[in-house]
Amino acid sequence: MKNKIVELARLKESSKLGGGEEKINALHAKGKLTARERIEILVDEGSFQEIDVFVKQRSKDFGLDKVEILGDGVVSGFGKIHGREIALYSQDFTVLGGSLSETNSEKICKIMNIAMKLGIPVIGLNDSGGARIQEGVRSLGGYADLFLLNTLASGVIPQISVILGPCAGGAVYSPAITDFIFMVKNSSYMFVTGPNVVKTVTHEDVSFEDLGGAETHASKSGVAHFIFENEIETLTQVRRLLEYLPQNFMDRPNELEFDHRSLKPQNILESIIPENPNKPYDMRVIISSLVDEDSFFEVHKNYAENIIVGFSRIGGMAVGIIANQPSCLAGVLDINASVKGARFVRFCDAFNIPLLVLEDVPGFLPGTDQEWNGIIRHGAKLLFAFAEATVPKITVITRKAYGGAYDVMNSKHIRGDFNFAWPSAEIAVMGPKGAVEIIFKKEIAASEDPEAELTKKLNDYIEKFANPYIAAERGFIDDVIAPSETRIRVIQSFSLLKSKVDKNPKKKHSNIPL
Ligand code: HXC
Repeated sequence: MKNKIVELARLKESSKLGGGEEKINALHAKGKLTARERIEILVDEGSFQEIDVFVKQRSKDFGLDKVEILGDGVVSGFGKIHGREIALYSQDFTVLGGSLSETNSEKICKIMNIAMKLGIPVIGLNDSGGARIQEGVRSLGGYADLFLLNTLASGVIPQISVILGPCAGGAVYSPAITDFIFMVKNSSYMFVTGPNVVKTVTHEDVSFEDLGGAETHASKSGVAHFIFENEIETLTQVRRLLEYLPQNFMDRPNELEFDHRSLKPQNILESIIPENPNKPYDMRVIISSLVDEDSFFEVHKNYAENIIVGFSRIGGMAVGIIANQPSCLAGVLDINASVKGARFVRFCDAFNIPLLVLEDVPGFLPGTDQEWNGIIRHGAKLLFAFAEATVPKITVITRKAYGGAYDVMNSKHIRGDFNFAWPSAEIAVMGPKGAVEIIFKKEIAASEDPEAELTKKLNDYIEKFANPYIAAERGFIDDVIAPSETRIRVIQSFSLLKSKVDKNPKKKHSNIPL
């Protein structure tokens, strides 16, 4: 027996070498960590339990008959983050570039199937050149098996993808189906095909970084939700994201203890809104005053900056925040902002995370660029996502709520539970100038002094509509509140809404306008 135990230890030790020391050194020289080192940083100390160490690839073509590496280039198993179970896999770039083989896929699918049965999140650490080319259709099939499981697990358990190297082909489509993508600046890349293929097909000369680097995906394509400076910071921030999420769709996010006696009016909020309604201000200042200290964890920070989305805690409760940002494009809703907001709302709704909407929006962005690219279809996504969401939903209108954007941003009409407005709120079909120029066009033109007539009509309009009281008269706004009491009212309302039950009609699934 003793010899057998020694042999077992030897085998397990050899599995840790992956593609060998030379390749590990090359990885380290690039500032990258190995698949196992990454896991150590990700999970609570000593909590990782590996399975399928003895799995080997079965292919014989193109020299693969000589490749016999225990684990076949992916480390898989279970661990804990903040004491809660998670499933994970970590691709080993030292073994054939982390490429996905048939057996490799079987290992990942196995932990995903278990994760779904247990109702625990799955985290994929991706560092892969895509489908293992030497295996042909078998590795393609392996990816398709994984795509199917990613899709079936969507909305059942949170799925998080961390991109830690050059990922191509299937190695980008699996992450694309998951809920969140993390990337590392200057060392992780995502593309369907790399720069060489791009050059051949489109004759474009483009670098790895410009084509599919972290900055590109965080700001241009919106593929990456989070980017950080290095692997350690990235993996640490994955742990932070998990703090806000429940384990599965039947679970609720953790609630931290909160002393309600500590609540005080936030007087700073009384002086945020400028006197001039056309002057911008930074919605992040409002967010940080409303939420529990340092609890805002922003998603998609550098993409569609005219809308802000992210997780936070308020009164100890985890919430998702969706806020227009007046300091970027006046907070207007365009295609990218609508898609960013809609995706976030749907994630929160799928995983029982209540929604807090902070609204200051002049409307949808007009123009041919937006119309031709489908602002109607994309704006409808945000409307659809809010309307369909059944989690507790609170809206605070800080200033403008004009036009369709008033309806879209979680209005009472689409099941907002508590809709508040500050006294600075302006709620109407459109802004004063545009409105007056349309409805009083003839009177202004016929007037002896068109300028004076325009000013008079403008003042009438502002007096009538640029306030929250008409909406409040109808009950479309539940209360007009002082900015300083917002934190208190929002916490009270979310506490009240804990027992909320709401359902959508029975159906196979909805048909969000994609
Ligand atoms: C088998 C692969 C591989 C792959 C890389 N390797 N990708 N082996 N199948 N897909 C091997 C290399 O041969 C090399 O082996 C080692 O991994 C490291 O690769 P290098 O090229 O030396 O590294 P680097 O210069 O860092 O470039 C990494 C890379 C590049 C950008 C990922 O290797 C690459 O472009 N690979 C192909 C990417 C690709 O087009 N994949 C698409 C597959 S199709 P040695 O032995 O020399 O160390 C796909 C479709 C799925 O995935 C379905 C989608 C819907």
